[in-house]
Amino acid sequence: MAKADAAKQEWDIKVFITFYKFSVTEEMKSKTVIITGGTTGIGKATAIKFAENGYNVVVTSRDSRKETALKNEFKAKGLEVDFKVLDVRDEEQVQAVIQETVAKYGKLDVMVNNSGISLGNAVLAETESDDLKQMLDTNVMGVYYGMKYAIKEMLKTNGGAIVNLASIAGLNGLYATAQYCATKHAVVGLTKGAAIDYAQQGIRINAVAPGAIKTDILQNAIDAGTYDVSGIEAIHPMNRLGKVEDIANGIFFLASAENEFITGTILNIDGGYNAR
Ligand SMILES: NC(=O)c1ccc[n+]([C@@H]2O[C@H](COP(=O)([O-])OP(=O)(O)OC[C@H]3O[C@@H](n4cnc5c(N)ncnc54)[C@H](OP(=O)(O)O)[C@@H]3O)[C@@H](O)[C@H]2O)c1
Repeated sequence: MAKADAAKQEWDIKVFITFYKFSVTEEMKSKTVIITGGTTGIGKATAIKFAENGYNVVVTSRDSRKETALKNEFKAKGLEVDFKVLDVRDEEQVQAVIQETVAKYGKLDVMVNNSGISLGNAVLAETESDDLKQMLDTNVMGVYYGMKYAIKEMLKTNGGAIVNLASIAGLNGLYATAQYCATKHAVVGLTKGAAIDYAQQGIRINAVAPGAIKTDILQNAIDAGTYDVSGIEAIHPMNRLGKVEDIANGIFFLASAENEFITGTILNIDGGYNAR
């Protein structure tokens, strides 16, 4: 090989190594969040909020067909999003998504356990037992798995924040909603208990308790005739439904390292519902 060619090859290698080191360290330096069920509603608004603030954002859904539309929506906003298929009822899948995220980005800073379902609103004796089993699987076991495997990774870096989605139904009884209330009370219990477990290990664990927010989960109840919109608005002293951005802002606040003394908090974002 001619001397000039060898020198050029050496230069190309140096440039490549420098660029590679720079890109890896830049990636490792930035923060990473996983948001389960983040292609719709509160989860999507939360994903946008974190992406706008420079996070590596990993959003999950059970449906792989949602990936392209989600990525295009983010791209149109000048944002990026990573996508993983995940059913939170499957413990091994939850573990794998968290481990793959850490392998790619170096660490997990924030875990938002957002996936949740609301089935069969009825007074208790008229409810279907299977609806409760399904909600326990998704709303409770899914959150538990997300916490468990996120904590295992966060312990390796001595830090992180977990934000769970509770509800006003996790702090109160609501008419014809006892099953859902039970699952969201369990989320409050998991949040407070684990916050104490890891309070001295740099892992903060909090939850938001939204009032009624205009998303698919609520729209289904409205469509089923369980509630009318003005009735739901009226249960909030502000006399309106919440916006998904209201909840995304609260989740971001709880996750922010600035708020390092906040753990075990259930943040009401409910237009005054719990002030009555
Ligand atoms: N909207 C409200 O008024 C309100 C009030 C209080 C609390 N919350 C809570 O806020 C959270 C977000 O709800 P939302 O209102 O934004 O409703 P949503 O738009 O229906 O979002 C729920 C998400 O959960 C995901 N999901 C459901 N089952 C899943 C499973 N087995 N595995 C993985 N993901 C699953 C869905 O994702 P895929 O279908 O793509 O898998 C969906 O994106 C829920 O935990 C809900 O209980 C909502």
